[in-house]
Amino acid sequence: MRALALVLCLAAAPALADGAALARAKAIVGGSCFLCHGTRGESATELYPRLAAQNSAYIAKQLANFKSGARKSATMQPMVAALTPADMDALGLYFSRQTSEPHPAEDARLAALGMAIYRLGGAATEVAACIGCHGERGHGSETLPRLAGQVAAYLAAQMRNFGARVRTNDNAVMHTIAAKMSAAEIRAVAEYLSGLE
Ligand code: HEC
Ligand code: HEC
Repeated sequence: MRALALVLCLAAAPALADGAALARAKAIVGGSCFLCHGTRGESATELYPRLAAQNSAYIAKQLANFKSGARKSATMQPMVAALTPADMDALGLYFSRQTSEPHPAEDARLAALGMAIYRLGGAATEVAACIGCHGERGHGSETLPRLAGQVAAYLAAQMRNFGARVRTNDNAVMHTIAAKMSAAEIRAVAEYLSGLE
């Protein structure tokens, strides 16, 4: 009987831990993050990146990078100053569990060009195809960012930051790629990705 109770406890433990983490994250989001990123990660305006359905470990890493200064943002640094590693994990879990709303691309021709770059890369410029790392539908992986449904202007700004070595928390993977892309290619791939679900 005692063995059975132990087994039941062990089975319930992760669910309880998730519940506590989600409650903690909800309190933090309600205290500050919601102002820009929305309560469920659907940002208030296109000035702020969407976090709904973003991958958990990727979010936790970005928060740690903002805190250490490895990723620079005058807006985000004060937001994360008081967060513990456990808070960051909890926030990652919370946003990864939210559903992303559809955001159809505004310019279909530009998006079609972007799709070719995303899937095939740039033959002449030797830009690696994004699909190899960010996945068939732009959902990324546990540690690689989801790009599907992200604000186009934010995606383009990050590409420019990687290209110019302003954002350097990616071990130069994205620098090598973005530095070879033209402004038009960046706009096209950002437009395509913003419309993916
Ligand atoms: C005043 C507005 C504002 C508030 C409040 C805010 N953020 Fe942000 N957040 C931003 C901006 C702007 C960026 C983009 C920074 C950049 O350009 O690199 C960002 C970026 C992020 C990113 C990186 C997204 C990505 O795709 O790489 C995460 C994660 C994030 N914020 C989480 C949070 C959390 C968690 C909170 C609350 C503790 C929060 N933010 C509060 C404005 C805000
Ligand atoms: C070799 C693997 C690889 C390829 C190929 C690749 N990426 Fe990335 N990408 C990454 C990594 C790694 C990160 C950063 C993760 C981090 O900050 O921890 C990243 C981050 C990004 C981000 C930032 C997302 C955010 O939420 O801030 C954008 C935008 C992006 N990539 C776009 C692209 C595009 C567009 C292409 C194709 C032209 C591409 N990537 C090809 C590995 C790759």
